[in-house]
Amino acid sequence: MTATARARTLVASAERMVVLTGAGMSAESGVPTFRGPAGLWKSFRPEELATPRAFARDPRLVWEWYAWRRSLVADCQPNPAHLALARFALEAPGRTTTVTQNVDGLHHRAARSVADDLGMSSPEPAFALEVHGAIHRDRCSGCARLVDTPAEVDATDATSLPRCDHCGHLMRPDVVWFGEPLDPDVIGAAFAAARAADLCLVVGTSALVHPAASVPDVTLRSGGIVVEVNLEPTPLSPRATSSVMGRAGELLPEILA
Ligand code: APR
Repeated sequence: MTATARARTLVASAERMVVLTGAGMSAESGVPTFRGPAGLWKSFRPEELATPRAFARDPRLVWEWYAWRRSLVADCQPNPAHLALARFALEAPGRTTTVTQNVDGLHHRAARSVADDLGMSSPEPAFALEVHGAIHRDRCSGCARLVDTPAEVDATDATSLPRCDHCGHLMRPDVVWFGEPLDPDVIGAAFAAARAADLCLVVGTSALVHPAASVPDVTLRSGGIVVEVNLEPTPLSPRATSSVMGRAGELLPEILA
């Protein structure tokens, strides 16, 4: 039996599944990964762009980078991996919880388009828990007020950066930066889903950044198993019952069929 066929059999016999996705899930949509050959952290320094201190030091530089990433993501579409997962989740509501480290919103977009195709009123069963936030949303750095559809950011100079209508503080992208805590409700829901799952499907993550990378271990500690899909082995591979090497966009439609 091929690794893909084995993964498919394991997934088919799982009662409750938690899916953890990383940048590799969106790579075939054109969203750069972080640590891959052309990954963002190869050409940009996270300490200059993705920390609260970097934002305090030079908010214009940070906004310039996020405005670039935001426009890049806006031009990307969900790929067959996102669509297969959304269909799997919508066809058996309550059976699958998706937890994503990605801030690109592509799981939500896939959920909406598949729900439309299936004539379903709500895409919500296929929405992902976005543990690292969402790049298309703004959050006030003072009062934490959220703006779902912010205006385009003009990062040419610090005076033109977006400010909160409510308290006047600088707005920032609603993403979790290094050294910042995750939203306890969102990561709490992710761990609860991992505890309740008998299978954790891990797709396109280097499994290095915690606490998200602990989700598979929570399932393992609760007696469940791990199935991994990645281009290459990761630190998680030795603990996986099945580790399928290849592209998520090609493998997930087969594994979730
Ligand atoms: N299909 C499957 N896996 C892929 C594909 C693909 N098409 N392309 C790349 N991968 C794999 C890589 O082999 C790698 O293991 O996806 C993984 C991407 O790893 P990272 O770039 O480290 O991204 P991720 O694990 O999501 O990073 C976690 O780190 O920088 C922070 O907050 C950021 O959420 C991010 C977190």
